[in-house]
Amino acid sequence: MTKQVEKIKQLIAKREQARLGGGEKAIEKQHARGKYTARERIEMLVDAGSFEEYDMFKLHRCHNFGMEKKQYLGDGVVAGSATIGGRLVYVYAQDFTVNGGSLSETMAQKICKVMDMAMKMGAPVICMNDSGGARIQEGISALAGYGEIFERNILASGVIPQISAIMGPCAGGAVYSPALTDFTIMTEGTSYMFLTGPKVVKTVTGEDIDAEHLGGASVHASKSGVTHFTAKTEEECMELIKCLLSYIPSNNTETATRVECTDPIDRKDDLLNEIIPEDPNQAYDMYKVIASVVDNGEFLEVQPKFAKNIITGFARFNGQSVGVVANQPAAYAGVLDVNASRKGARFVRFCDAFNIPIVSLVDVPGFLPGTGQEYNAVILHGAQLLYAYGEATVPKITINLRKSYGGSHIVMGCKQLRSDLNFAWPSAEIAVMGASGAVAVLYGKEAKAVKDEGGDVKAFLAEKEDEYSEMFANPYQAAQFGYIDDVIEPRNTRFRICRGLAQLATKRQNLPAKKHGCMPM
Ligand code: HXC
Repeated sequence: MTKQVEKIKQLIAKREQARLGGGEKAIEKQHARGKYTARERIEMLVDAGSFEEYDMFKLHRCHNFGMEKKQYLGDGVVAGSATIGGRLVYVYAQDFTVNGGSLSETMAQKICKVMDMAMKMGAPVICMNDSGGARIQEGISALAGYGEIFERNILASGVIPQISAIMGPCAGGAVYSPALTDFTIMTEGTSYMFLTGPKVVKTVTGEDIDAEHLGGASVHASKSGVTHFTAKTEEECMELIKCLLSYIPSNNTETATRVECTDPIDRKDDLLNEIIPEDPNQAYDMYKVIASVVDNGEFLEVQPKFAKNIITGFARFNGQSVGVVANQPAAYAGVLDVNASRKGARFVRFCDAFNIPIVSLVDVPGFLPGTGQEYNAVILHGAQLLYAYGEATVPKITINLRKSYGGSHIVMGCKQLRSDLNFAWPSAEIAVMGASGAVAVLYGKEAKAVKDEGGDVKAFLAEKEDEYSEMFANPYQAAQFGYIDDVIEPRNTRFRICRGLAQLATKRQNLPAKKHGCMPM
């Protein structure tokens, strides 16, 4: 055997060793937990044969607590570039089989390298988290590593899409990297995220709680809103990432890839002419409206289990990717509250950062009143949504379906927030407030007088409410002032949106020069 052949054999052997991560036993343990290894996960996600690994031979440099004997090629993260559907992406997957995927200084350097490459190339970054957090033996060096990653998350925000899949533990300050990224997906039953684990919680607050109930996928999907999606299996998680990527561009200078549209853009749906109930207090399902107007009824909902009174998600019109924001009358009457505002604001900002037009379907009775909301700063959170809409310079189309009252009318993409096209259905009610509230304020004294005189207060109020409704519970006052560009037949909604988006394709709008605004938070 020549020296060259010998060296090549050595390389192949080293590669094989690196691919084993923490070793066969650790891999078996990982599989027994129902989890795939870092390399298996990357393989599942990216186009076959496209993964180009970096730093396969990198080693940590820690000599504390006997760590010099715990060396694995590549350390606890697998990182590199690949393609998904032919598009360049950068990926890294923490390898739990190596020291529990705990983050060393070396691992942070590997992660930062792919993030820097992603920024240079203008490509999305996908990270798969499965880690015991900062590598305890490395002390401050591990913490500094997290700091380096967080800083890159911040600098990349709004420049390249960042997606985090949580597929195992993600605890302590480590949670801040996913939180800084655009979308988080948690696998059900095998992942958790929290700042302090159950033991610390018990010591500090006395609360008895397990990891799943403290920070499992369902908790963060429905209660905290920390995660945008959950997946039953790791396979489902990968499919979700691919689907999500198909709706978004690779960076903030591009637009999402347009797909061929097989759904006629002038398709009319008579269901929409009948969907608004006679009784204004009766609910209907906004999902039916969305399914009716978007291409082939396909909708990727973002945060489906959190703040169900507002719906956010991606769809296509004539093959063009669009962010849909819609009030849901079937959940708390579609009222805006703290969580709905937070959810809507974040989504609108993402769409605006990545050149994705926003279509808003509005049926909102107002903001939820009460101390629960006021003490939790509904003023600030409502302002967040307002700010997000007002700041967004992407094409914006708003359709008022039914209620559109007061502050919530302004917030949900009204004309004055620089919405480009504002349409209303004939059923729209665009007013300062609903009829009963308005009449109570306007005719309080008169109602009291009727009562004092032994008259029929109910009949008096009903008459005044009818008068008010006649005047304001329609779209024509707004149309009269040009705040609504047109009143449209509901069944034509899809066509009007498609034609509107085509018209707005060349939209150019800027914000005043500034370092950045001070968004209410
Ligand atoms: C070093 C770690 C480690 C860590 C796990 N390991 N976490 N090594 N630093 N943080 C090692 C274990 O020693 C073990 O090594 C192997 O990984 C697998 O761990 P197990 O405990 O055997 O696995 P499991 O029972 O599944 O438990 C997983 C775990 C647990 C829940 C993650 O290991 C754990 O609680 N780890 C500590 C979590 C933590 O408190 N991290 C610090 C968070 S604070 P061997 O050699 O035996 O296989 C933080 C600060 C970040 O991260 C701040 C950023 C600003």
